[in-house]
Amino acid sequence: MISTNLGPTPSQCIPVGVEIDVNALPEKSLWPAKLLEDSKTVFQKTKREIIREFNDEKWGDLLTKLSELVSPDHDALKQLMFSESEECVYSFDGRLFVSTPRLIDQLYKRLVARELAETAAAARVIIEIGSGTGNLIIHLARQSSTGDLYKAFELTASGREITRIVASQERLNIETQFLDFDQPALTAQEFNGAIIFSSFAVVYCKQPENLLRAILREKPSEIILIEPIFQFFDSETLTGLLAKKYFKVNDYCDQLYPAIQSLESQGFVKCVAVNKNVFGHNPLCPVSLMRLRPV
Ligand SMILES: C[S@@+](CC[C@H](N)C(=O)[O-])C[C@H]1O[C@@H](n2cnc3c(N)ncnc32)[C@H](O)[C@@H]1O
Repeated sequence: MISTNLGPTPSQCIPVGVEIDVNALPEKSLWPAKLLEDSKTVFQKTKREIIREFNDEKWGDLLTKLSELVSPDHDALKQLMFSESEECVYSFDGRLFVSTPRLIDQLYKRLVARELAETAAAARVIIEIGSGTGNLIIHLARQSSTGDLYKAFELTASGREITRIVASQERLNIETQFLDFDQPALTAQEFNGAIIFSSFAVVYCKQPENLLRAILREKPSEIILIEPIFQFFDSETLTGLLAKKYFKVNDYCDQLYPAIQSLESQGFVKCVAVNKNVFGHNPLCPVSLMRLRPV
């Protein structure tokens, strides 16, 4: 059985912005009203929808804009991705704060970097699966002084291309590679000894047990999942109930936690740290941190 709350709390990171009460949330986010007023609409996460949302629209638009720049570096990418003036709500360790997307992104990166620092020091290869634009792995590679190899595995061609362009502009040691979580054709040695991490990505995988099995076969040294976990949302708080509804309405996969429990009970993996609902870019869908070691 997975033990919970084994790791350090994110309190070592200091939240940015102004704290707000849950009653102020509907003023800043359309989601509470949307979730309470419409109980039927479900935003299906079929492969076609994922490709439309990320490859064609979000990352596709960013790629078009980035390609027009003379210096498509990481600062330019962040400027395109995160507004410095608009205000939005995020959640930090169960509390709600208002800040700018740019500062929220910086705080999240500090949290992820801190989480990876412990084990990443000993790894030769650091791999992000479902890496999107590469925003996180580029940040980690820029901070590194050890010359480790970084790999960005991603479904969308536009996401991989953004990562390639920025990494090349910054002269970073980052390789990009295609990966479909639902057909994980990993080649031998690829993940051997590596640190694998994900951030709000495996929640799109339909059969997480298959994906984790395929990764574990390659003998990584550790898997760090930074993902929303349905089972960690509680029914005793308003935000917990809204989070459950948000998760279902967005058709995210609730099978990651059961998959980890199943692999743990079969003796394939040990969950050595869990921090629940530590950070939510979207306050109604906070991610939890789970650190897994192959047995
Ligand atoms: C919300 S974004 C997160 C990106 C990045 N991890 C981050 O935190 O900035 C989710 C990413 O998962 C990718 N994704 C969704 N389904 C996938 C699949 N079946 N295989 C691989 N990646 C997938 C999407 O293309 C998208 O880039």
